[in-house]
Amino acid sequence: MRVPIVAGNWKMHMTSGEAEQLARGILDSLDGTVRVEVVVCPAFTVLERVRKVLGDSPLKLGAQNLHWAEEGAFTGEVSAGMLLTCGCEFVILGHSERRTWFGESDTTVNQRLRAALGAGLKPIVCVGETIEERQSGATEPVVRRQVTAAFKGVPAPDAAGCVVAYEPVWAIGTGLTATPSQADAVHTSIRRVMRELYNDNVARAVRLQYGGSVKPENAADLFNRPDIDGGLIGGASLEPDAFAAIVKAAV
Ligand code: 13P
Repeated sequence: MRVPIVAGNWKMHMTSGEAEQLARGILDSLDGTVRVEVVVCPAFTVLERVRKVLGDSPLKLGAQNLHWAEEGAFTGEVSAGMLLTCGCEFVILGHSERRTWFGESDTTVNQRLRAALGAGLKPIVCVGETIEERQSGATEPVVRRQVTAAFKGVPAPDAAGCVVAYEPVWAIGTGLTATPSQADAVHTSIRRVMRELYNDNVARAVRLQYGGSVKPENAADLFNRPDIDGGLIGGASLEPDAFAAIVKAAV
């Protein structure tokens, strides 16, 4: 049985005071009833502060990216070891905003993924097609290429512990959501790719999140699908009540 996982990607929002307030708000709204895995992923600058607010609650901390080197002359970058010392357990990798605006490629996503796993962080690997790719019928091959490249050289036991987030680029921050059946079809194909790359056990174990305009109103329909194990939430993760409602929809 896969434990559902809902993660909030706070993106480039929240100064330190705001982040602390948001983390407290989420804890209050969840009211202790956390029967799925819940992760919040704030900006690097507030990781430690949010860690303190989460305290010994079941909520987990994640970062939004990392660099693959252990340390070195990489101005502006952050290593896996640095994230671990801030209390991170998870890290988002290969988000489409990183791919679009900051030149991340399938190759660097793979480097980051291997570095995260080597350090003991749990990766949330993002994949997804653009609107042009969907309209030209290329969704499945694009997602297959991204998943295959990301997991190159990753051993099966490590792959089984990863989370893959399917985030159609056209659904991110647009209010357009993939329908539950559109999303589930891609999730099923991601599981098929994992089966081909590894084996049935890995394909069954890997958790697949949907991301892209998930709201309290559409979360339950998405999460009810057999191959959707939770969500990666952007905008709605900045509102404690909305995020808590989405978490409850995954229970
Ligand atoms: P929205 O929920 O704001 O569409 O963002 C999704 C996302 O990019 C999460 O990583």
